[in-house]
Amino acid sequence: MDIREMKLADYEDIYRLWKETDIILKRSDQKQEIDRMLKRNPYTCLVGEIDGVIVSVVMGGFDGRRGYVHHLAVKKELQKQGLGRIMMEELISRFQELKVIKVHLFVEENNKAVKEFYKNIGFEERTDLTDFSLTLIE
Ligand SMILES: CC(C)(COP(=O)(O)OP(=O)(O)OC[C@H]1O[C@@H](n2cnc3c(N)ncnc32)[C@H](O)[C@@H]1OP(=O)(O)O)[C@@H](O)C(=O)NCCC(=O)NCCS
Repeated sequence: MDIREMKLADYEDIYRLWKETDIILKRSDQKQEIDRMLKRNPYTCLVGEIDGVIVSVVMGGFDGRRGYVHHLAVKKELQKQGLGRIMMEELISRFQELKVIKVHLFVEENNKAVKEFYKNIGFEERTDLTDFSLTLIE
């Protein structure tokens, strides 16, 4: 698998991959929002390709204080072969280059398999925090 930075032209392929892998897609996943994400985080939004076909994706965002991981996905038939780990390793190494101190990500409470995946690659489950959100645009 070759990893490269995501381009807006990849949007339709990536959106299909997210849908196929049951990622919950919302307003922030519309093309113009992904465009904004890519403009702010060109170095940390990545796709993985095999024979020119996108098989994995992850978006990393750095807000100047923390790194955030969004929408990691690996094509269903290629899961459990180490590709997710490789994508995360590339993203983490880029966050390290940017001198990011700590990286956060959110997992749906019922997504037990993904919790195990992140623990397996070194993330620590936080039980001392509760997430609060405020929606500014419906
Ligand atoms: C989560 C996801 C990206 C993992 O990608 P993957 O390529 O299947 O994972 P890997 O093969 O790289 O696994 C890395 C490690 O996690 C472990 N792991 C992977 N899936 C696991 C699972 N379901 N349960 C337990 N451990 C798991 C692997 O055993 C591996 O450990 P090892 O290297 O010690 O053998 C992939 O399953 C996916 O696309 N899921 C659907 C989308 C999703 O839910 N994304 C997360 C949004 S928060």
